[in-house]
Amino acid sequence: MEQTFLMVKPDGVQRNLIGEIVSRFEKKGFQLAGAKLMTISRELAENHYAEHKERPFFGDLVNFITSGPVFAMVWQGENVIATARNMMGKTNPGEAAPGTIRGDFAVQVSNNVIHGSDSPESAEREIGLFFHAEELVQYEKAGSSWI
Ligand code: PPS
Repeated sequence: MEQTFLMVKPDGVQRNLIGEIVSRFEKKGFQLAGAKLMTISRELAENHYAEHKERPFFGDLVNFITSGPVFAMVWQGENVIATARNMMGKTNPGEAAPGTIRGDFAVQVSNNVIHGSDSPESAEREIGLFFHAEELVQYEKAGSSWI
């Protein structure tokens, strides 16, 4: 089953959006495989965002993501990587459609509430950075055949 890494960023945690965001993915029909509230070290932040190292906003991005707790999650389901990105909306909240998480809850690209893996390769890498295998739970959910 496909898995993705999603993270409520520090602004989303401070604005009490964890429940709203978890609820959207639950109601969509995806299954939570792991979750934790944590504060990201600078080392983990720089590793997670390594592909953006040369971008002008890299320092701001690392400062922001380490500025307060995040809610890290692994979700699974059919086509979950691309569908979660659609549910999140465009990176710049000003361009994100209403009904998406960023379209409904964010204004600035530097405070865009949620991160989600953009490919199977990044999902595998990011899940491995944030979770140990024993923190992920596989279980049968009643009603899953109705999705
Ligand atoms: S994407 O979706 O990866 O193509 O988006 P991209 O534009 O490449 O941005 C990569 C991540 O950097 C964040 N970002 C910024 N942070 C702070 N300030 C500025 N100006 C800025 N621009 C982009 C953006 O939210 C992406 O973070 P994640 O966590 O991957 O969504």
